[in-house]
Amino acid sequence: MRRSHVPTGLGLDTPRHLVPSPPPPLLIAEPGEVHIWWASLDLDWCAVTDLVDLLSAAERSRAAQIYRHDARRRSIVSRALLRIVLARYTGCAPADVDLDRNGAGKPHLAGGDGRLAFNVSHASDKAVIAVTWDTSIGVDLEPGREIDDAVSVAERTLPRALAAYVRRGSTVDVSARFARAWTVFEAQQKLRGVGLTDEQATIHRGACHTECLAMPDGFIAAVAFDGPPRRLQCYDAAQPPHHAARVVRNLPLPT
Ligand SMILES: CC(C)(COP(=O)(O)OP(=O)(O)OC[C@H]1O[C@@H](n2cnc3c(N)ncnc32)[C@H](O)[C@@H]1OP(=O)(O)O)[C@@H](O)C(=O)NCCC(=O)NCCS
Repeated sequence: MRRSHVPTGLGLDTPRHLVPSPPPPLLIAEPGEVHIWWASLDLDWCAVTDLVDLLSAAERSRAAQIYRHDARRRSIVSRALLRIVLARYTGCAPADVDLDRNGAGKPHLAGGDGRLAFNVSHASDKAVIAVTWDTSIGVDLEPGREIDDAVSVAERTLPRALAAYVRRGSTVDVSARFARAWTVFEAQQKLRGVGLTDEQATIHRGACHTECLAMPDGFIAAVAFDGPPRRLQCYDAAQPPHHAARVVRNLPLPT
């Protein structure tokens, strides 16, 4: 049997600890940055009722089809926070952020200059939104929970090199290794805008930059984007001011 090498360069053994800070009133759109927005989705119903107004008719009807109350509420809050965050960059009102999806469901901004890229992941009561410019991006979030039979699940579901990390990595317990490997895999799939059913699923080293992240409350995330490493800034999405903040465009013009 061919022995797989545990992948390096993905931050699996050294996830970067991110501590969300309040966003500055003026966000600077620097070309070499990725902004990671951290959000808690468990708001009370009064706040959620206000947030529903920010959603499009399609988003509201999608949320209405979610049977469980807590899942419906989190879905509404997640989509509304996505709109609030993107509004900071686009300069329009959150309800006017124009979102579309590709054939596999990956959302993107419709219209505009096409430079702003983002991706979202939610898990349990938390969400992350990753925003950058001039490249594609994918993000995934998982709660740090105990996984039964993590090695065999990894061997069934993950590319061979990541399954090898779950089997043989040593710095943390097997459930944590699984969460790290899984988020790295899913962030790369989401970067490419494909689903987990993609038959070409494999792990990429070199073609894109991938980082494993230690988030608050024991959550594990990974972000993947095309091109060289970028500076990561982590902001708290629930911190005001929401609509008033502006983004200063410091991006070079496309050549
Ligand atoms: C994308 C996918 C991997 C996300 O899985 P997950 O772990 O359940 O969810 P996460 O919380 O990490 O991410 C969900 C978010 O990712 C984004 N997303 C959805 N599809 C995506 C895709 N193909 N690529 C990247 N991002 C995607 C959305 O913003 C979604 O949030 P929303 O539903 O609130 O809009 C999974 O849904 C999948 O495999 N989808 C593809 C299915 C497909 O090919 N469908 C074709 C017909 S639509």
